[in-house]
Amino acid sequence: MDNVLDEWNTEILKQQVEEGKKKVCFPMPSGCFCFGQVNKVIHHHNIARRIKKLNEKLTVVAAEREMYGFHQSTIGGHDDQQLIQRQKTSSLVDISKIFGRDEEKEMLLSKLLRESSQEGEPFLVIPIVGMGGMGKTTLTQLVFNNEKVTAHFHKKVWVCVSDPFDEIKIAKAIIESLDKKETQSSSSELETLLLLIKTHVESKKFLLVLDDVWTEDQRQWESLKLPEILQSCAEGSTILVTTRKEEVAKMMRATSSMIHLDKLNDKDCLALFNSFAFLDREEDAANEFGAIGEEIVKKCKGLPLAAKTLGSLVWYKKTREEWRDVLNSKIWELKEIEDQVFRPLLLSYYDLAPAVKRCLLYCAIFPKDYDFRKDNLIELWMSQNYLNLKGKKEKRRIGQSYFESLTMRSFFQDFKKNDMKNVYGCKMHDIVHDFVQFLTQKECTIMEALKGANQRVELSGDYKVRHLTLINVGEGQLPTSFD
Ligand SMILES: Nc1ncnc2c1ncn2[C@@H]1O[C@H](COP(=O)(O)OP(=O)(O)OP(=O)(O)O)[C@@H](O)[C@H]1O
Ligand SMILES: [Mg+2]
Repeated sequence: MDNVLDEWNTEILKQQVEEGKKKVCFPMPSGCFCFGQVNKVIHHHNIARRIKKLNEKLTVVAAEREMYGFHQSTIGGHDDQQLIQRQKTSSLVDISKIFGRDEEKEMLLSKLLRESSQEGEPFLVIPIVGMGGMGKTTLTQLVFNNEKVTAHFHKKVWVCVSDPFDEIKIAKAIIESLDKKETQSSSSELETLLLLIKTHVESKKFLLVLDDVWTEDQRQWESLKLPEILQSCAEGSTILVTTRKEEVAKMMRATSSMIHLDKLNDKDCLALFNSFAFLDREEDAANEFGAIGEEIVKKCKGLPLAAKTLGSLVWYKKTREEWRDVLNSKIWELKEIEDQVFRPLLLSYYDLAPAVKRCLLYCAIFPKDYDFRKDNLIELWMSQNYLNLKGKKEKRRIGQSYFESLTMRSFFQDFKKNDMKNVYGCKMHDIVHDFVQFLTQKECTIMEALKGANQRVELSGDYKVRHLTLINVGEGQLPTSFD
């Protein structure tokens, strides 16, 4: 449908140029099928026929949907989300296998043990925010099992919340962890369950971990009445929350105590990679493969999940050539990365509203490590008609909110702020860029145009390129044809 509409728009522009009209024309939005607007411009028989054909096709698709009983996905794609299995987490961890994170661990411990002053606060909510696979759960497991923490709190509970946020399930999991005997007999009335939790933790110093929270729905959070329960606990009780979304911390009104988990430093990332890559390998293997390993680990850009995945992948590879193959392949061409790194990232992607998804995918047209300028990006989204609302000002506001939405879910990072502390620029993590390119493989292409080359650009295979970025066009001319 987009192709037909684009051709239609191009045709209109062509005619306007031919007629020598000076008036600036905004093409019809590809996403919006507006016949009123179409009627104002010249009808084109061929296009009309194709639209008719498209309609017929859509009718067949709709009939088949009925026949097979397919359901329409909800906004934000939560139905798609269910297709990806979410891993249940627990508080158990092998501490000897964790690398780095000393600073973050100390900071978190000092908050939990109330070494830094948080006087006046009877209890604390600490959100740990970061992109998928950055190690939020791992860091939380590390402090949860710390001796000092165990000695400091009377009761400690770990709940894997995940999505959807089910209040009854969470309340039951808390009770189960507090008292093993209670579960089977406990009621399904939320109120009863919450009262039961309260009786268990009243006047005790209570540490509750809510791992992997997604909901931004204030009503769901309030219905759990955790702040009320923690008011009745001893001072210093704490809720530790891990989430990929800053909105969750906002919703819990806990942004002031939030901890942002950033990438693992190069040394620790390499150590993590090596611990998987050289597991059980003979000692001199490190000399033989070490240098290639160092290069491979650079692809991970400090993302522990990627380092672990690539480390495990090369463990199976026995020759240097095989290691070099991994090094030279595009990261999104590796099946293991697709399964273990991109799949978890898909959850974050599905959590976006459809319009924001489109804005994110558009970012695939920029090269790696690109310095995004917020205003510029919003204007580009506007030029694509992705911010489908009337009025320029309104569009900018929507663009701003889409940008924030992507920022808060760690799709952007390395923010540049002006004197007023407002963000004006950012970058995209390499793996996120790979992920976005993976999603738009056939639609967005980046290629180097040689200086001054007056050449043809060939786009082979089954590409249906909608956006093409040419790098280094420099002083030379643009390529003259695209095949
Ligand atoms: N510092 C570390 N040392 C060793 N392994 C780590 C470290 N950090 C993370 N990992 C490993 O990387 C993987 C991803 O980490 P983790 O599950 O903690 O990420 P997360 O931020 O909680 O991701 P998600 O948003 O998907 O819940 C895990 O298998 C974990 O064991
Ligand atoms: Mg996690």
